[in-house]
Amino acid sequence: MQLPPSAGDLPALDPADLPAKVIDAVTSRGGDPDHPVSGYFYDLAAAVERARGLKAALPPWAEVYYAVKANSYAPVLHALVGHVDGFEVASAREAELAASIRPGVKMVASGPGKSLPLLTALVRTGVGTINVESRLELHRVNAAAMAAGRRAAVAIRVNPQHVELGGSLRMGGTASQFGLPEAAVPDAIALARSLPAVDLVGFHIHAVCNNLDAEAHARYVRWCLDWSARTAHTHAMDLRVVDVGGGIGVPFGTEDPFDLHRFGALLAELRPPDGVRVLFEPGRYLVTECGYYAAEVTDVKASGGTIFAVVRGGINHFQIPTSWDLLHRFAIVPIGSWPHSYPRPGAEDVSLTVVGELCTPEDTLARDMKVTRVRAGDVVVFPLAGSYGYEFAMPEFLGHPPATRSLI
Ligand SMILES: Cc1ncc(COP(=O)(O)O)c(C=O)c1O
Repeated sequence: MQLPPSAGDLPALDPADLPAKVIDAVTSRGGDPDHPVSGYFYDLAAAVERARGLKAALPPWAEVYYAVKANSYAPVLHALVGHVDGFEVASAREAELAASIRPGVKMVASGPGKSLPLLTALVRTGVGTINVESRLELHRVNAAAMAAGRRAAVAIRVNPQHVELGGSLRMGGTASQFGLPEAAVPDAIALARSLPAVDLVGFHIHAVCNNLDAEAHARYVRWCLDWSARTAHTHAMDLRVVDVGGGIGVPFGTEDPFDLHRFGALLAELRPPDGVRVLFEPGRYLVTECGYYAAEVTDVKASGGTIFAVVRGGINHFQIPTSWDLLHRFAIVPIGSWPHSYPRPGAEDVSLTVVGELCTPEDTLARDMKVTRVRAGDVVVFPLAGSYGYEFAMPEFLGHPPATRSLI
């Protein structure tokens, strides 16, 4: 874990640029001394709009499975269920949640080190395709499916030798715990075929997160399709699924956004082999914009030349800026009331560092961002907090109240 990069006096966002419903939600809750604002606000319409836009841009052969790990708040899944083709799940809890949203919903499961209890739960909850990440997992899926008296559809997750994609995290094209190296795939195919309860349907490749380059992403999808078709042909395999993973990014700073229309146009030139389903598993792209993390300033203090705003929350609620080394901009929403008889600390025209309430200097959400005014009782609002926010934090450390979650 590192501190987020210094903003170098980049100005904070203007609260006037936040949607009116965010401001209303924050200001109507602010100023209550018994319940400091501390949690996430979600605009479901924004998630639905992203899903609609993605589906409209992709060719008809592309199926979209929302990666539940990005945000597993049930209302988000309810909002998306009619606008995506299914859900990508990684745990028994995610699978049960997805299944509860709409009975019979299509699911695909991924994740390294799947245990026998997990695979048993995935088979039981009706996950359509299980992406296996090792030979041992193949044996375990076989055992779980045999015990359930059925066959399980399985795709082999491949870690390609080379991946020409940028992005914030790499899961493929490098040594990693994910999937099987390309060179190990032939043996895995042979093993899968020898297992009576395994129905080998294809391949899964999820190599990168937060890629903003649409042309490179289209080349990657082309590579996934070509490689899968070639490998299936070489091994006389009946290819039915190519899962190209997630990884479409969202700009957190001044980068250009992912060019969805260009991506769609490039994909429209591809022709997946007949009878092959092509699955996309976007998480961040669908839900980042729908979420706002809002935390009330509990104190403002100066130390060693730095002005700190301490908030009710921090990395116990919102860890992405620290763990991803992100320059995540925020706005300060002023709250008029200060219902106390003692003075209200504050600062004007300063470079502000926003920290949380945990007993570690790592609990830092933003550094050196220029603000015109900050006072105890105001609320710091981070947009672009709908993905890997609530789920990706460390809520138990120190035992402060968890982040709230509400809809706007
Ligand atoms: C297997 C798999 N699929 C999909 C995703 C979603 O990725 P993203 O949110 O970058 O689209 C992830 C994220 O780590 C993943 O591990």
